[in-house]
Amino acid sequence: MNKRETTISFLEYNSEDELPAMEKALVGEAVRAASGAYSPYSHFMVGAALLLDSGEIVRGANVENAAYPSGSCAEKTALSYSVANFSDKKVVAIAIAALTDGSLTEEPVPPCGNCRQMLIEEEQRSSSPIKVILAGKSAIYVLENSQGLMPLSFTGRNLGK
Ligand code: THU
Repeated sequence: MNKRETTISFLEYNSEDELPAMEKALVGEAVRAASGAYSPYSHFMVGAALLLDSGEIVRGANVENAAYPSGSCAEKTALSYSVANFSDKKVVAIAIAALTDGSLTEEPVPPCGNCRQMLIEEEQRSSSPIKVILAGKSAIYVLENSQGLMPLSFTGRNLGK
């Protein structure tokens, strides 16, 4: 029997102003994206902004539905759009931010399990790391890749692909 461990490391910033310029700008795009959310049920407005290797930005927001499971998360909206419209481009980074009562949440909002799964798929599809920037008012977390969000994840490799 072996005991095995996995750890993740990430940077924590205490203000947007400490972030490198590109990351700060991407957080701004995520906040802008959040203002486009359609979330009449939860009133939780989430925005995701993807930076592509071409320099283009793809924004997505959560889109809810009266049939709750039919809704889509912000990250899923953005990733689906970029795969469908920019399949030859790589996603270099994603910033995620959420608004409640019109203000950025105090704490960073981490992506849900489904969105982590989608991020890992995209990272593997492009064979290139996707930096993850989780923005809150009092803390911003930066992970160098998406894989760290989900240890022991199920991937195409498990299907022999
Ligand atoms: N939501 C996202 O957009 N991204 C996440 O990773 C977590 C949750 C949305 C889904 C729903 O519209 C609202 O936030 C409340 O769960």
